[in-house]
Amino acid sequence: MDTTIFINIVYVAAAALFIYGLKLLGHPSTARKGNLLSASAMLIAIIVTLLDQNIISYGWILVSVLAGSAVGVYVSKKVEMTGMPELVSLFNGVGGLASASVAIAAMLNAQLSTGFAVISVVALIIGAVTFSGSLIAWGKLSERISGKPIVFKQQAFANYSLIAATVLASALYVMYPSSTMLMIVVVLLALSIGVMAVLPIGGADMPVVISLLNSYSGLAACAAGFALENNLLIVAGALVGASGIILTNIMCKAMNRSLVNVLTSGFQEVLSNDIVVEGEIKPISAEDAFYVLEAAQSILVIPGYGMAVAQAQHAMKELQELFEKNDTETVYGIHPVAGRMPGHMNVLLAEADVSYDLLLEMDEVNARMEQFDVAIVIGANDVVNPAARELKGSPIYGMPVINADLAKNVFVIKRSMSSGFAGVDNPLFFKDNTRMVFGDAKEVLNNIVRQFSD
Ligand code: TAP
Repeated sequence: MDTTIFINIVYVAAAALFIYGLKLLGHPSTARKGNLLSASAMLIAIIVTLLDQNIISYGWILVSVLAGSAVGVYVSKKVEMTGMPELVSLFNGVGGLASASVAIAAMLNAQLSTGFAVISVVALIIGAVTFSGSLIAWGKLSERISGKPIVFKQQAFANYSLIAATVLASALYVMYPSSTMLMIVVVLLALSIGVMAVLPIGGADMPVVISLLNSYSGLAACAAGFALENNLLIVAGALVGASGIILTNIMCKAMNRSLVNVLTSGFQEVLSNDIVVEGEIKPISAEDAFYVLEAAQSILVIPGYGMAVAQAQHAMKELQELFEKNDTETVYGIHPVAGRMPGHMNVLLAEADVSYDLLLEMDEVNARMEQFDVAIVIGANDVVNPAARELKGSPIYGMPVINADLAKNVFVIKRSMSSGFAGVDNPLFFKDNTRMVFGDAKEVLNNIVRQFSD
């Protein structure tokens, strides 16, 4: 059989495995299997690609595979669960960089036809935007760059000018595809667009940006696939692009924002972050909180990013078992953007063996919020902020939140009065029915567990 035909038959099989793997990723109980299946399909695809007659150096490929695998294994083993979103962001960026590099390699081929010049320049732009945008997103997620929108005067004008300059330079490149200088100009302009597009996007909108960059990394790979005439890269890129767009749409719905609205943040007037929320806070010790919890009939647990930081999921599972022994109904309210990555809370709670049936969506718990005797907020802040309902002008106004403040009693477990990722004050902490249980989430929960056991 002709090698090209054989390679393409294997590609079709690999693509089918990718699609099945994606389907399995749709549920937490089958997600591991889906991941393994898709990764194996990728390995098979890489092996048959090596049969390609046009490969120049197996030596360099081997060195790259070994170096890439070593880095991948090292960072995946070393990364903490809280660092996972940043790692995903870096992976998106590296995906963009790879596609841009493929495009550059294609562009340095002097024989480029107009069609190939167009597709290569598209791959280059999307890849470079994904790379620099992901680096900024990584900086924001790791709090190396402020999570607040970074804006300056004439930003909209600067951004429009950048886009116009990129279109112009790309058109010129397509006319003169042998010009390396024009290619470098396109690279620099695209890198600047990535930076400028993500800098003005504020904390609460980051979930949308991360999933969108994920989708871009797929589109860049897809375009690179056209440039290389590699069918599997086209299919795999399209799958990543499409699933990224679906996730972006889910995130937009969760934030009650339109994609256009998020993306044009740099083109709009930024809302004030300076609304000061004041009132009296009422701290309570873990020991005293225990008496209220012991008497409760129904408890809602609302986890957030702080639960991930404290690694408090196991302590919470232990407490849940004690509540259940005490005949107290216990459920969890999961906000779609709680934590720092999609499904963050689900993954943590699954790790602690909390049954999926107990994880309820935001709408479900909001519908019966008044019936909960106690809402325990564990290291969550933005996702329970009633300013989203009450304070017009707040940067998070209009974002759907879990209405913890409407439960009969609220215990907020966190270390201080500091704000969450969006950098917005939280009126929940000052409500009459709220008590603040200050401390590290794991320590506080362990303390309450001890009270139950004594
Ligand atoms: P946040 O609003 O970020 O609040 C987390 C809170 O946890 C902080 O106020 C912090 O207060 C507390 N905390 C930190 N370490 C703790 C510890 N060891 N023990 C106890 N508390 C601790 O979290 P959230 O409510 O989950 O909201 C998520 C935010 O991240 C949203 O703004 C969302 O838009 C954004 N975001 C989400 C994603 C995705 S996809 N989920 C991606 C990017 C950004 P103290 O410092 O006082 O303890």
